[in-house]
Amino acid sequence: MLLLGTQRINEQGHLEIGGCDAVELARQFGTPLYVLDEATFRQNMRDYRRAFDKRYPRNEIAYAGKALLCMAVARIVAQEGYDLDVASAGELYTALKAGFPPEKVVFHGNNKSLFELHMAVQHGVGRIVVDNLLELEMLERVAAEAGKQVSILIRVTPGIDPHTHRFIRTGQADTKFGLNIRNGYALEGVRRALALPHLRVKGIHCHVGSQLLDTEAQERAVKIMVDFMHTLRKQLNYIVEELNIGGGLGIRYIESHQPPTFEEYAERIVGVLTQQLERRNLPYPTLLQEPGRALVGEAGVTLYTIGAIKQVPIHQPPGTRTYVAVDGGMSDNPRPQLYDAVYTALVANKANQPADTVVTIAGKHCETDILIRNVAIAQPEPGDILAVPSTGAYNYAMSSNYNRFPRPAMVLVNAGHAEVIVERETLDDLLAHDRIPERLRSEQPVMERA
Ligand code: LLP
Repeated sequence: MLLLGTQRINEQGHLEIGGCDAVELARQFGTPLYVLDEATFRQNMRDYRRAFDKRYPRNEIAYAGKALLCMAVARIVAQEGYDLDVASAGELYTALKAGFPPEKVVFHGNNKSLFELHMAVQHGVGRIVVDNLLELEMLERVAAEAGKQVSILIRVTPGIDPHTHRFIRTGQADTKFGLNIRNGYALEGVRRALALPHLRVKGIHCHVGSQLLDTEAQERAVKIMVDFMHTLRKQLNYIVEELNIGGGLGIRYIESHQPPTFEEYAERIVGVLTQQLERRNLPYPTLLQEPGRALVGEAGVTLYTIGAIKQVPIHQPPGTRTYVAVDGGMSDNPRPQLYDAVYTALVANKANQPADTVVTIAGKHCETDILIRNVAIAQPEPGDILAVPSTGAYNYAMSSNYNRFPRPAMVLVNAGHAEVIVERETLDDLLAHDRIPERLRSEQPVMERA
């Protein structure tokens, strides 16, 4: 059984998260329900930072808001003294409305709009990570109009293929992100940026991929980035002040996942970084990072109510498959379908009973939305509460209204208290943006006049 963070089995034999009985949470707030464990999220932020602080004091960490962002989350991130990585006007707006300090925001995107650049410059966003040459020109104009100097990082592509799902690799040579180091575009980008009067080039950025379960790709990226720092000094006489290596550290979705601990990760990354800097005789830059999943992923649990259960004969291998349907599915968690993501589950109201029944968990959408294949849980019955751990990152963030499902609520649990931080969408919320043109209101089609 995968019990993460503050999760435990209480005296009733129920799953408990943040001191709250999961069955009680489901009863009080309804299902599907996203539960965010505040203590685990905060502890992860502190542990991650401590692991780096003690090995490389010149470092700064941004939480990657794309993993999970709402105003309450932005407040927690602010209280923990983290920076915040945003990737759209919507994420930036959420941060600003939550009172997140704009100077601690890092703004990302491979195709930022003029609107987004204006918004970022107007609000005094701390760093803009420039992805391409068009953006460089646009941003120079926006900054000039605003009469401001804007601090930027140049996103570069180290040309590395990490071992992770192809949809979440970003640092390989064949990618839409950043400027390629190998073909000289990255060097050209920095050269041009240095000539622009309203941009202050603070350094370079890369991100190789997500859900990385070893440090190998990230170590290679660090080495390539330091080599590039060396090139920049040699070719342009430019010294990188800030080196941003993105995020990417993986988490435990199932028991067999064994990502490096924060300590192991920091040891390896800082080891390679300092070794390479010494080798190139380069001054130590500020190390910036942007972990998302590693901080918030294991802090999230989704609760569902079990409905229909079906036994279906199968031929390979011969036997029966038990389909257990829950009251959510791909609208609250599209990851199994998008990335073949794996999860485990437990019956929250039978957490102390043996997990001896192998079932397939299905969603309730009008297609085959399997959430989990062949998972062993306690004997399920309609009305049981199913808990799916490690759903803190990229679940609510990627949720949709497919089949016009209202999005679930999210509650923040801590020391036995639960507070709603995202309200459950109502059926009327689904209609809030619908409009019926007048001519469609009559019973018959209104014929167009010639
Ligand atoms: N920085 C940049 C520039 C990124 O593109 C990403 C993730 C991160 C930081 C944070 O990565 P993390 O530490 O969370 O791995 N929707 C996918 C994940 C996409 C990640 C995209 N970029 C999923 O559900 O697995």
